[in-house]
Amino acid sequence: MEKYVINGGKKLEGSVNIQTAKNSVLPILAAAVLTDSPVTIMNVPDISDVRNMVRILGCLGCNVRYDGQDMIIDSSSAYNCEIPRELAHELRSSVFLLGSVISRFGKAKIAYPGGCDIGLRPVDLHLTGLKRLGVKISERNGFIVCGCDKLTGNEIMLDCPSVGATENIMLAAVKAEGTTVIKNAAREPEIEDLQNFLNAIGARVCGAGTGTIVIEGVKKLKGASYQPISDRIEAGTFLIAAAMCGGQIELCGTSSENLSSLLHKLRENGCKLRIKNDKIYIKNDKRPVSVKSVETQPYPGFPTDLQAQMTALCAICSGNSIVTENLFETRFKYVPELCKMGADITVVGRSAFVRGVEGLKGATVIANDLRGGAALVIAALAAEGRSEVLDISHIDRGYSQFEQKIRLLGGEIRRVVI
Ligand code: UD1
Repeated sequence: MEKYVINGGKKLEGSVNIQTAKNSVLPILAAAVLTDSPVTIMNVPDISDVRNMVRILGCLGCNVRYDGQDMIIDSSSAYNCEIPRELAHELRSSVFLLGSVISRFGKAKIAYPGGCDIGLRPVDLHLTGLKRLGVKISERNGFIVCGCDKLTGNEIMLDCPSVGATENIMLAAVKAEGTTVIKNAAREPEIEDLQNFLNAIGARVCGAGTGTIVIEGVKKLKGASYQPISDRIEAGTFLIAAAMCGGQIELCGTSSENLSSLLHKLRENGCKLRIKNDKIYIKNDKRPVSVKSVETQPYPGFPTDLQAQMTALCAICSGNSIVTENLFETRFKYVPELCKMGADITVVGRSAFVRGVEGLKGATVIANDLRGGAALVIAALAAEGRSEVLDISHIDRGYSQFEQKIRLLGGEIRRVVI
């Protein structure tokens, strides 16, 4: 077990490089199973979700090696279509492998996935979509068991724009016979990134980034080298940290376009922002002003993955705010922990009512999930005095070199083995 020990109250100054997006890399690694030729994914972040995905690929029989930060996946030797319980439980994204493993082997068996405990997270839309492509599915002893004679393109209308279901169906449809049309598809930038990767290995996919994605099945795929997009959630976490701690920082290798809903809110908070090519500068030298209301929505709305960090910011704004979570039911588990630092927040149903306080005070808090954990770290950086954030393995799932980057910006943070 490890924890962070943080001495808060320091302004942040300096520059950090933003990592490659976790939520792009994970489905792209699943997509690597579709082809017999080696693929290279550049600048893969060193996070535990990726390490677990690599373990799953290894278990399928793929050969994975690193060349510096680039990962080379050779799936020509893949032979296994079963993902054991202990691996699937480590990682929600293991479910993406359904689409690619069925496409590769005509069958798949996977334990119900794990991941952050932030709500029900059903996979019904994934399964309904795969059934429309001709997959027969049964559920036995906590395993999803799939098989098909062949995959055939079809029209699939999603009840809600699920990111994972959209990606899973794309993966299964790439080598299906005929054309698949996904309607009410999720529009997240990572889906467009998956499309670009699939096209780089020879697929024919268009429309990602809009609500309708069209996939023309192809017979064979090839290898490619691919650089996925930058991590908008990591970038957003650092921007909110700067807004809370004050100071001025520069993020390099990021895209402001993918973050416009957050940038809009930060301007309302009174932060000064400047965008130049792939850099975002943020400066804040005053107590932030409340934004009144933040509601999470599918892209391009405010991302649920920045909800906890934004609530931490609202906690120290002048004025009150209401933060509403529309995607996941139990994504306010970090709120009692923030309150230990002096935040004044009441959760009623899907909304957190935040009464801004002058400042937070150091405390010992527990990270219950990835983004909630990151919110506690940035709150501790802004708080007066010493904090401990326990259970940081959740944070390690998604942030690479988190404490090193924070130290580069002048934050005082140490990782301690308990
Ligand atoms: C992905 C992201 C996660 C992000 C989320 C929403 C990855 C690896 N993870 O998760 O970081 O928080 O998008 O932007 O990319 N739903 C169903 N049935 C399903 C699938 C989803 O009802 O079969 C519901 C979920 O309960 C939730 C909503 O759809 O309310 C959105 O979930 P979804 O977009 O699928 O999230 P994930 O793909 O799990």
